[in-house]
Amino acid sequence: MSRSGPGENGQTWLILGASSAIARAFALAAGERGAAVLLAGRDREDLERTAADIRVRTGVRVDVVPFDALDYAGHDATVALCREQTDSLNVFLAFGLMPSQDDCDASFEAVRQTLETNYLGAVSILSRLAPLLETQCQSRMGQNRVVVVGSVAGDRGRLKNYVYGSAKAGLHTYLQGLRARLCRTGVSVLTVKPGFVDTAMTWGLPGLFLVALPTTVAQAIFRHLDRGRDVVYVPGFWYFIMLILRHIPERIFKRLSL
Ligand SMILES: NC(=O)c1ccc[n+]([C@@H]2O[C@H](COP(=O)([O-])OP(=O)(O)OC[C@H]3O[C@@H](n4cnc5c(N)ncnc54)[C@H](OP(=O)(O)O)[C@@H]3O)[C@@H](O)[C@H]2O)c1
Repeated sequence: MSRSGPGENGQTWLILGASSAIARAFALAAGERGAAVLLAGRDREDLERTAADIRVRTGVRVDVVPFDALDYAGHDATVALCREQTDSLNVFLAFGLMPSQDDCDASFEAVRQTLETNYLGAVSILSRLAPLLETQCQSRMGQNRVVVVGSVAGDRGRLKNYVYGSAKAGLHTYLQGLRARLCRTGVSVLTVKPGFVDTAMTWGLPGLFLVALPTTVAQAIFRHLDRGRDVVYVPGFWYFIMLILRHIPERIFKRLSL
């Protein structure tokens, strides 16, 4: 792969977990804003299709790179590839797994995979990308950005998905520390907490309400990036729903079938 360089707006976005519906929408929105895109994920065929689509619609440079969140040892190679490709790296992390709580209760393997993918996998790649982002930001006096998709599920442990929720809660806390570290060199870290989004992850699940489209989520993320926000709920009304949920006393909350 030849060096892609930044897109016409001077930026390159690395999209981790790029076959996610939210990631695809974000990658297209990044291309529409003139950024070059590196699509990283496990399903090469799917990523090549997305890459072709973004190229046709936007004319920006789009490359596909292999990435598995669970292949911790391979994450150094992803970072090396980014270093070779661009000196203006931005990162969008979207990969994740959400098995049902019943599956987690039935098998520790589901628990392990959920925690490893959503928490350890994210921490592994972000901690390895951090020094590169710091160096690039200092040497260009630019502003490199990190956007990570967490979840409202990380705000409170619920009966119906507390394994997934606890992985996202851990991720949110890790991001608070990473933000404090990276802001010293001008790198911003945005934690995105979506409510329900219409993707493969939620397809066919009962009891969904106020479901947002992936494109709505992607557009909202760019608006929040432009405003320099640190933590956002998407769509914004989830801030108020979670404010109420977080304040229900534990003695009542533990009896709710949520
Ligand atoms: N949908 C919602 O309602 C909702 C709400 C709140 C937060 N979120 C979060 O939004 C993010 C994106 O999810 P989505 O809704 O867009 O669902 P999705 O379409 O199912 O995307 C999840 C992606 O994660 C990838 N992934 C899973 N394990 C991986 C691994 N080991 N290495 C690399 N990639 C891996 C999958 O890749 P493969 O194609 O290779 O399996 C898939 O592309 C997730 O972090 C999710 O937790 C979603």
